[in-house]
Amino acid sequence: MNNQNSDKPSSARMYDYWLGGHHHSPIDRAAAQAIEGMIDARALAQINRQFLKDTVSWIAQQGINQFIDVGSGIPTQENVHEVAQKVNPKTRVVYVDNDPTAIIHSRSILGVNHPTVAIIQADMREPNTILTHFDTQRLIDFSQPVALLFFAMLHFVPDNEEVYHLMRQYRDATIRGSYLVVSHGVDTQPNDTTRAVERESVRQIYQGNVAMRSVDDVQPIWDGYQLMKPGFVSAQIWSGKQKMPHDYGPGDIYGGIGRKL
Ligand SMILES: C[S@@+](CC[C@H](N)C(=O)[O-])C[C@H]1O[C@@H](n2cnc3c(N)ncnc32)[C@H](O)[C@@H]1O
Repeated sequence: MNNQNSDKPSSARMYDYWLGGHHHSPIDRAAAQAIEGMIDARALAQINRQFLKDTVSWIAQQGINQFIDVGSGIPTQENVHEVAQKVNPKTRVVYVDNDPTAIIHSRSILGVNHPTVAIIQADMREPNTILTHFDTQRLIDFSQPVALLFFAMLHFVPDNEEVYHLMRQYRDATIRGSYLVVSHGVDTQPNDTTRAVERESVRQIYQGNVAMRSVDDVQPIWDGYQLMKPGFVSAQIWSGKQKMPHDYGPGDIYGGIGRKL
């Protein structure tokens, strides 16, 4: 649903609203608030950002010094390059998003020709465009391990088979020992009919461009990877926190790290 029109809500700007940012319109705010009536999106956005920080830092500590962050969003605090460069200042990061607001604000922070970081405007459905882009080729050495990051964005590609096909293409571009990190809005109560109405409302707010997959539906994206412990689980568990006894609504944010076999 990421569109060039500010008369329609955008997932990037709604997420900015939940994170307490300032880059959203009244239309984005209204859509975000409607979702909040069903899902504790604010809490889940915070949990997702914590997962991002923890996993990027962990991967950087494994010696990985190049990252491609797809669906990177509007910059906020502790962005991927800031977290990774705390571990290794020479880390290179390519950000990718298809939302113009995310691109404008990322560029205003990074400028052009940044020596270690770039932002590319592209759709994740075009892996070839992303992987062969001038800035990707400038910053990423595909003969070395790379970390591919897809934080809270694959649910915006609703067709399962399309996602599996795309993820195989990204995987095949990287060598053994590379990492894949995914967080994903999952449907934790797929058989609960009372939740079905809420799920449909969420889908409508996102104009059909969202899929709260079941955990099983996400599993195929890990083909060819060894899942690091504790696996693909509620993102809170990754942050070393006990899962709070809290009802987030019909979904939760799950996360995992895979190491390419
Ligand atoms: C919920 S935000 C997550 C931002 C960031 N990854 C994070 O976790 O903090 C989802 C982002 O994915 C982007 N996005 C959605 N569909 C996309 C697509 N097909 N290609 C590229 N980016 C996409 C949106 O524009 C938005 O910035």
